[in-house]
Amino acid sequence: MAAEYVTGTESEVGDASRLEARGVTVGYGSRIVIDHLDVAIPTGVVTTIIGPNGCGKSTLLRTLSRLLKPSKGTVVLDGEDIVKLKTRDVAKKLGLLPQGPVAPEGLTVADLVATGRHPHQSWVRQWSSDDAAVVARALAMTGVSDLAERPVDALSGGQRQRVWISMTLAQGTDLLLLDEPTTYLDLAHAVDVLDLVDDLHESGSTVVMVLHDLNLATRYSDNLVVMREGSVLAQGHPRDVITAELLHEAFGLRARVVDDPVADRPLIVPIGRNHARRE
Ligand SMILES: Nc1ncnc2c1ncn2[C@@H]1O[C@H](COP(=O)(O)OP(=O)(O)OP(=O)(O)O)[C@@H](O)[C@H]1O
Ligand SMILES: [Mg+2]
Repeated sequence: MAAEYVTGTESEVGDASRLEARGVTVGYGSRIVIDHLDVAIPTGVVTTIIGPNGCGKSTLLRTLSRLLKPSKGTVVLDGEDIVKLKTRDVAKKLGLLPQGPVAPEGLTVADLVATGRHPHQSWVRQWSSDDAAVVARALAMTGVSDLAERPVDALSGGQRQRVWISMTLAQGTDLLLLDEPTTYLDLAHAVDVLDLVDDLHESGSTVVMVLHDLNLATRYSDNLVVMREGSVLAQGHPRDVITAELLHEAFGLRARVVDDPVADRPLIVPIGRNHARRE
């Protein structure tokens, strides 16, 4: 164990980081997507990664969860180089909801969510009533208990998305990486899922998400990581990070930033090409 990486015990960690990318370079084959990136995920905080399509958000999340191995640099999880940890040990600490997951044909919702318990099982530790209770709770938390016996591939996009979130929750980790958890969800269900993220945060979990809805990102996270072309352009509290200039620089988006009437947060109002002309 690399002692210099230890940031403290769980109770004294505060805003220190359990998960960090240090000088990470990663890509696919010879194609580099992220070059020498540093980012520390604050513990006990909801962090949202935002940035344009193709800028490397999913690549970063996959790297932070050990699905991709960096060609340079390290990802440090609880003081250890993540590539040196066993898959099962990583899965006991960190749950990942990948972007666009696909379930095996015919698999039921209950069976898929139950796979979230696999890291906790071994030849000495078989399926138990505790596992069943965790699965039932995970199904209830995302409101999909009624779908338990349905095949996953026969659900709507939004129902399926909530089932996958449920599977990630069944893993029972207090570190969650969620790649676009609200994709396919109508606004009411998106808000429900993000309220659930907020509840998990209240109970001490650390969450890293990717969201495309900038206003939901701003509302539901205390730390934003803004990416562009494989780099971190800005990081910090939405109130400090979200400005019209930053939105233009990151997304090429013209927008006004006003006060959110509901929360003490900025609210982004896009202008759009045609409205800009009429202004
Ligand atoms: N499996 C892959 N093989 C090769 N290139 C890939 C692969 N996955 C992603 N890429 C490329 O890496 C770059 C970053 O992709 P990534 O999926 O990380 O973007 P993203 O920011 O998550 O985008 P989006 O908002 O569309 O989900 C893109 O140019 C993409 O084409
Ligand atoms: Mg992505």
